[in-house]
Amino acid sequence: MSQAKLILSQSPPPWVPLRFFVTAPLFALAAAILTLWSDPITFASRWSMPLLAITHLLVIGFMAMIMTGALIQVVSVLLGGTIRDLKIKSSGLHICLTLGTISMAAGFMSGDPWFMRSAVLLLGLAFILFAWIMFSGISSSTARSDSGIGIGLALIALMITVLLGLWLASGYAWESIDLARSFTDTHLTWGLLGWVGILMITVAYVVVPMFQLTPPYPGKITPWLAPVLLLALVIWSSQLVISEPALSRFGGIMAAATMLLFSGVTLWLQHNRKKKQPDSVVWFWRVGIISITAAVCLWLFPQAGTYILQTSEWQLLLGTTVILGFAISIINGMLYKIIPFLIWLHLSIRVTELKLSRRLIPNIKTMIPDTSIRPQFWLHLLSLLLFLASVSWPDLFLTPAALLFAISNILLLRNIILALQLYSRTEAEIILAGSDN
Ligand code: HEM
Repeated sequence: MSQAKLILSQSPPPWVPLRFFVTAPLFALAAAILTLWSDPITFASRWSMPLLAITHLLVIGFMAMIMTGALIQVVSVLLGGTIRDLKIKSSGLHICLTLGTISMAAGFMSGDPWFMRSAVLLLGLAFILFAWIMFSGISSSTARSDSGIGIGLALIALMITVLLGLWLASGYAWESIDLARSFTDTHLTWGLLGWVGILMITVAYVVVPMFQLTPPYPGKITPWLAPVLLLALVIWSSQLVISEPALSRFGGIMAAATMLLFSGVTLWLQHNRKKKQPDSVVWFWRVGIISITAAVCLWLFPQAGTYILQTSEWQLLLGTTVILGFAISIINGMLYKIIPFLIWLHLSIRVTELKLSRRLIPNIKTMIPDTSIRPQFWLHLLSLLLFLASVSWPDLFLTPAALLFAISNILLLRNIILALQLYSRTEAEIILAGSDN
């Protein structure tokens, strides 16, 4: 833990982040069930309502759910920020995020504007609460690091995504508001490349060397990778206000180059890691990094005037590679390190309080053993490959892909619940040992 000074005493109660982590696989499961239930023909276009519902069950229900839970922990422990009334605010955030995502999916599926109206209100409230928690945590933080700056930039990207998303959703919710379709690509690019991309880069600086035992990221690139990506997105978005396609394309290529540099450095660090034993978490990261590299190349083809696919297939392939291949793979890998770390952290605080031996705490590696993670990794990878194949052959591959994705998320949930049971058991044993003392 050389890179980051962990301010352990600031850690919020374990259930604050953990309930976000338990809820997320349920949304991924809901996305898989909705895929199984929908006619494969609806997946031929990115604008189909089931696909928009499934996309948001994944990007808000799974991805944002885990990333908000993890960030609340990070801002307290890594940056040492103090957040007033954290328990109430985080409960409100969790409830609004859960109900808002359900309303939004119901709104897309049923076309009933009342669901969309409640989604706009609930998700708006959820992200206001989240911004409040994060900005009060960061502003009260004493630690200044590349990670703190990166998190701040990712939050700016998230707020742009959310504002555009709420505006788009208002077009579905109220007849008097036009659906601002010209902003959809800006919304999703700021979400996937801005919020997710910048956050992954920032988190990687800390967790890749810490948990995968690699050398640290080179100090020459860490301070500017995230700011350059944000700047690139601003330049790319200039197309909305000035008609200068060359400038916008320059921004896009700058963003692509930044992501390729990050991917290359990460794969090189993983190749040079000190411990070479197979580790499923490293493989989740590798799949994620290879996917974003593939997605960037896929995006670059049309920029160079090369069309290898029809537009709709290209869009679906790009979306699947980024959401399932990049974001969800890396988030899975991160969860398997964050949850044991959280359990270890809270048990350590307990034994220190009760002046007991640290030997009462189980080895962190046994909290979610690699033998339990591996089958879930293979199911995830197989479902990703089948989803990619289903872009061209939906009748053949969509059902097996969704089934494997569902089983993969059931296993993820089971792994999380088993770890939490171990935590409760050990905590009870520690308290008992403390009362015997
Ligand atoms: C408050 C949160 C959000 C709201 C209200 C929202 C709303 C919407 C709406 C209404 C659309 C459809 C636009 C249309 O029909 O043209 C859309 C599309 C999309 N959104 Fe969001 N969104 C939110 C958050 C996010 C986040 C955080 C991400 C990614 C990290 C994201 C990724 C996408 C993608 C990828 C699409 C396009 C889907 C496709 O083309 O099939 N959204 N969003």
